[in-house]
Amino acid sequence: MISVKKKIIVANWKMNPVNIAAAKKLFTGIKEIARNLSKVQTIIAPPAPYLSELTKLYKGHRILFSGQDIFWEEKGSFTGEISGTMLKDLGAACVIIGHSERRARGESNEDIHKKIQAVLQTGLTAILCIGESDRDHKDGTHLAFLTSQLESALGGISKGKLSKVVIAYEPIWAIGKSKDDAMKPEELHETVLFIKKVVTNSFGKSAAFKVPILYGGSVEKDNAGTLLTEGMVDGLLVGHASLSVREFGDILRSAQEVS
Ligand code: 13P
Repeated sequence: MISVKKKIIVANWKMNPVNIAAAKKLFTGIKEIARNLSKVQTIIAPPAPYLSELTKLYKGHRILFSGQDIFWEEKGSFTGEISGTMLKDLGAACVIIGHSERRARGESNEDIHKKIQAVLQTGLTAILCIGESDRDHKDGTHLAFLTSQLESALGGISKGKLSKVVIAYEPIWAIGKSKDDAMKPEELHETVLFIKKVVTNSFGKSAAFKVPILYGGSVEKDNAGTLLTEGMVDGLLVGHASLSVREFGDILRSAQEVS
């Protein structure tokens, strides 16, 4: 169970590192730091084939494991797909859904909705990714875009199940660059308020305001603290900087300091 009272820092390893030996080394390094941080909920999202080995290396609650995707069916003739139950059996507590890199490879809003329903059905927590590819401040089309992503993903979900949803706001234009290209904290704060408003419209304020909102997109050790404090997010979804023990360790320590 994710602790929403802590800062939630998710390491999205994507398709890295290259083999299980490197994954174990990276995890062990991160574990030595994360297990001492009482105010941080660390979540590691490795490639699924590494999960069973990595979960053997840690048994507490300060670090949880996540998948990077699932398919919505429980079983059947779906070559290459993985179900929520399979991930849960391997020790995952959550699953990233709708990452922009998957959307770019053809995943639709409808697919994402079906995946969210399957994640919730399995009892896992969904880390739902949303984010615009560019921003036009004059006409605000990015806001309409975010609204449609949220409404299509979460439409029909019961209020009770919303407690198992985390929203990760990842503007695509800020992904995979460096700290200077990340979103500015004040702009992030505005977007967080906007996301809360959209979720409130569908689920009411008390349920909506409990949904943790994370930011992702060029989070590094030097901007993690300000993104958390001035950006007013509940946590961070970290890509490239989660592949270095030193860099990710510093991000975790920043989160501990600002909590
Ligand atoms: P970077 O941190 O490398 O920008 O990646 C962000 C991301 O896509 C995390 O899911």
